[in-house]
Amino acid sequence: MRALCWYGNNDVRAVTVSDPSILNPHDAIIRVRLSSVCGSDLHLYDGFVPSMMPGDIIGHEFMGEVVDTGRDVQNLQRGDRVVVCSIIACGKCLYCQRGLFSLCENSNPNAWAEGSLFGYHTAGIFGYSHLFGGYAGSHAEYIRVPFADVNAFKIPEGVADDAALFASDAFPTGFFAADNCNIQLGDIVAVWGCGAVGLMALCSAYLLGAERVIAIDRFPERLQMAREHVGAEILNYMEVDVIEALKDITAGRGPDACIDAVGMEAHAGGLPGMYDKVKQTLRLELDRPHVLRHAIQACRPGGTLSIVGVYAGLLDKIPMGAAMNKALTFKMGQQPGHRYIPRLLDYIAAGQVDPSFVITHRMSLDHGQEGYQLFKTKAEDCVRVVFTP
Ligand SMILES: NC(=O)c1ccc[n+]([C@@H]2O[C@H](COP(=O)([O-])OP(=O)(O)OC[C@H]3O[C@@H](n4cnc5c(N)ncnc54)[C@H](O)[C@@H]3O)[C@@H](O)[C@H]2O)c1
Ligand SMILES: [Zn+2]
Ligand SMILES: [Zn+2]
Repeated sequence: MRALCWYGNNDVRAVTVSDPSILNPHDAIIRVRLSSVCGSDLHLYDGFVPSMMPGDIIGHEFMGEVVDTGRDVQNLQRGDRVVVCSIIACGKCLYCQRGLFSLCENSNPNAWAEGSLFGYHTAGIFGYSHLFGGYAGSHAEYIRVPFADVNAFKIPEGVADDAALFASDAFPTGFFAADNCNIQLGDIVAVWGCGAVGLMALCSAYLLGAERVIAIDRFPERLQMAREHVGAEILNYMEVDVIEALKDITAGRGPDACIDAVGMEAHAGGLPGMYDKVKQTLRLELDRPHVLRHAIQACRPGGTLSIVGVYAGLLDKIPMGAAMNKALTFKMGQQPGHRYIPRLLDYIAAGQVDPSFVITHRMSLDHGQEGYQLFKTKAEDCVRVVFTP
């Protein structure tokens, strides 16, 4: 089959590889219909996630059709149209039982490696380095899905492929981010980052009862999406002082909750931007936490900071004094999508949300390098590239 593989920094190539096969009775093989490029893939493309090997198939946000099932798969049949959670869970361990699927104890066969970095290991992720299990990703014609009964969700009739695709990753991530804000009626929620994850966090904050949502980014076309498709108020951080603007919007108090949907590769101008860029390049710090710093500063006392932008390692100059003295609540993590996906598919089926507005580019796997480059540079107003393998 054809698959898009990682060969090094800024280097992905479509090559011919062997088809996947059933390795465990709980596996299913899915023919991938749509697979998109997520902000997390950029951390691989930019070389910030250790343990990638040349030839690894990448991609983790996808939907498709079941073509084969292992003998112990009970809920799926050949021909079923499914969306698969980007995070792999067993459904049975202590964490899965508590709904903390992204902390699954059984889905990362390279647990020892991740454990040695983070203290303990977490769940496996499709196409996301050997640290997270070494699973083949979804930028391919076919993919093996372990614990298929738990990780693949049947798509209701009437939900289009384009919309269902984002129930794999961006939508549950945004929903998890908003759910973590413990939104009360009348709350104002600010979201840094208007990629698909930030846009879905904005939608979700409304779904969960926020009165006003504020989108922060620097790309006018993304801010426009937030205004037109979500109804968010928008702030361009290149044009205004975000912390002052947020004070103005909230009568001087600050947002009740702040969502970081940007993570380790945040952009910043001027000296602070240069400082982190140099330190990151020299590996003196792994992440560029501009947004985290701003969000801590901007959040109202007693408010919640919800982090879904990915961080990988050690961060510098985090204003813990502000966080501690303002009694902020920090919530964060990789998305436990299994908790939300059926509910999100219902929202889509009911016409309450249609995440497909984030798709700006479609191409074949053979144009993979071009797709990644477009998404990285945000050229041609790119928000989500979708491959049709
Ligand atoms: N926690 C999870 O389970 C999970 C799942 C999916 C993605 N993610 C992470 O979410 C983040 C966003 O993903 P995406 O797919 O939306 O990526 P994306 O690259 O499309 O969007 C990131 C956005 O952040 C904006 N940005 C950069 N610096 C900023 C700043 N200083 N202030 C405000 N905005 C800024 C960029 O302009 C861009 O629009 C990534 O870190 C990704 O790894 C996490
Ligand atoms: Zn992702
Ligand atoms: Zn588990």
